[in-house]
Formats: sequence, C-alpha cells, structure tokens
Amino acid sequence: MSTAPVPNAARAAVVYRPAFPVDPKRALVFAVTSGKGGVGKTFVSANTAAALAKRGLRVLVLDADLGLANLDVVLNLYPKTTLHDVFTGKSTLREAILNAPGGFDVLLAGSGLVEYSRLTSDVREQFQTVMHSVMLDYDVVILDTGAGISDVVLYAVSLADEVLLVSTPEPTSLTDAYATVKVLAAQQGRRTVRVVINQTLQPGEGRAITTQLQRVVDRFVPALGSGPVVLTHLGDVPSDVLVRNAVQKRQLLFTAMPGSAPAQALAAIAARLGDLVQRWQAVRSTS
Ligand SMILES: Nc1ncnc2c1ncn2[C@@H]1O[C@H](COP(=O)(O)OP(=O)(O)O)[C@@H](O)[C@H]1O
Ligand SMILES: [Mg+2]
Repeated sequence: MSTAPVPNAARAAVVYRPAFPVDPKRALVFAVTSGKGGVGKTFVSANTAAALAKRGLRVLVLDADLGLANLDVVLNLYPKTTLHDVFTGKSTLREAILNAPGGFDVLLAGSGLVEYSRLTSDVREQFQTVMHSVMLDYDVVILDTGAGISDVVLYAVSLADEVLLVSTPEPTSLTDAYATVKVLAAQQGRRTVRVVINQTLQPGEGRAITTQLQRVVDRFVPALGSGPVVLTHLGDVPSDVLVRNAVQKRQLLFTAMPGSAPAQALAAIAARLGDLVQRWQAVRSTS
C-alpha cells in the first residue's frame, strides 16, 4: 500500500462540516463510493435502496457518477428526462425523478455525460440546488458516486453525511480504498468511514480486511483535533453468480431473489443504515 504521509498543508486542521445544516427533518445523505472502479457501488446503492424502502423509508438514489452513469441500465429504466435536463433547465426536477422497481425513487444522470466529469462552479451549484430541493421529501438520499479521488467524485462525497466505501477483497481495490480514506480525512476532515466489502469469498473476510485497513490508517493517517479516523465495518456481500445474472437481466437482486445470500447480506447492511436514519430522526419525534 502507498503509505506516503499526508502533506503538511493538508494537515492544517481540516474539520468535518456537513454540507447541509443538520436538521432531522431532512434526509440523511449517504455517499456510496470506492477507490477502484467496478467494485459494485451501483449494485450496492440500488439494492440497499430497495431494502431501505422495504423498511418503510422514503429513499432517493441520485446517480452521481456523472461521467460513467449506469444506474439506469441496472434498473432497466429508459429515462426521457435526466439530471442533465434539469441542469440545463430543459425540465423540472419533479419531471426527472422516476419511480424505480424497488419502491424507491431515482434521479438519473443518463449515460456518459462527459461534460460533467470536470468540476466547474456550475456543476457544483447545480448539484447543491438539486440536493436542497430533494432533501425534505425523503428520509434517505443515496449518492451513487464514481470511483477514485477526482474532484468531481470528492465533491459528490462532500455532500453526504455518511460515507459508504465499497471495496472488494482484492489488494488493488484495498490499496485504492486506503487512498480514498486518506484523502477524505485530509480534505474533508472525515473521521468515520463505513466499509462494505463486496464479492467476498468466505465468511468473516470483510471484518478481517477492515481491521487490517484500520491498522494501516492508524499508522499513516494522522489523527487531527477531532480524533482518529475510524472505519466501521457495515457488512460483507458474498460473490455470487446470481448478482451477475440479475444485472444481465436488468433485475434488482433484492426483489428478484430476496432469499439469496447476497440479497440477505444487503438487507443486513440496510438494517444498520436504517438504525442510523432512526437515530438521525430521533430528534424529530421528540421535538
Ligand atoms: N457480490 C457480487 N457478486 C458477483 N458479481 C458482482 C457482485 N457485485 C458486483 N458484481 C459484478 O460487478 C459488476 C460491476 O458492478 P457495479 O455496481 O456496476 O460497479 P461500480 O458501480 O462500482 O462501477 C456488476 O455488473 C456485477 O456483474
Ligand atoms: Mg456505478
């Protein structure tokens, strides 16, 4: 793993600040991200959304992988209006929000909007405006982001309250996951990163990997004023040919094969996320 220390400039006490005011009436925002591409972010986003919807939560998944959007493909949706039309003023936000098969809503980017792969102040503003408008209508907003540490990906992640980092057990994926943690800590002051290990081959694998990753983080990512970076293992999703079959048939595994091992693993992950949402909203019921 690359263990180069974080440069001093970046160390200058970056403190995590939520992008939107902390308000239990608004959605809790999750960013699903990864170091390496193709590890299962969209699969995890869509199926976790379905599992959260089944728990009675109002969920919106926003395709925030603007350069390589493919949520539409996974959900078998052919959107007439996309985020691009909203950004360019061709349609309203309401027109662009679609009902997905899993009982949740989606805001699709449309495939290959290369012009958004660069972070301009325009993209930033439009993103913020969209988030502001949807926040109060949902309990959960999931940002299905791109991989890596490009400006656009980091910006999308910066809009979230919680980071879900997806990695496979492969060393290349883990190395890139570590790089992501390092950058999120240095640039955004993140202190909690929730880890999902996808495509595991044996039980217990993800927990062991997360512990190992935590050891590297403890050693090489400096603890700032707000404390050390803590990785929380959210769960593992086993590698299963059923996942590939479902993607090929453009079905949601969670609804098509709810009893399968990966679907049950995603249900367990959603239960943990549901607890976070409940905690977030607890103030709402008492006020
Ligand atoms: N648990 C799994 N078991 C088997 N194959 C998987 C699993 N998760 C993902 N895949 C495969 O990996 C492909 C890429 O997943 P995707 O969610 O599109 O990745 P990303 O959004 O990170 O680029 C899927 O189409 C699927 O075939
Ligand atoms: Mg994806």
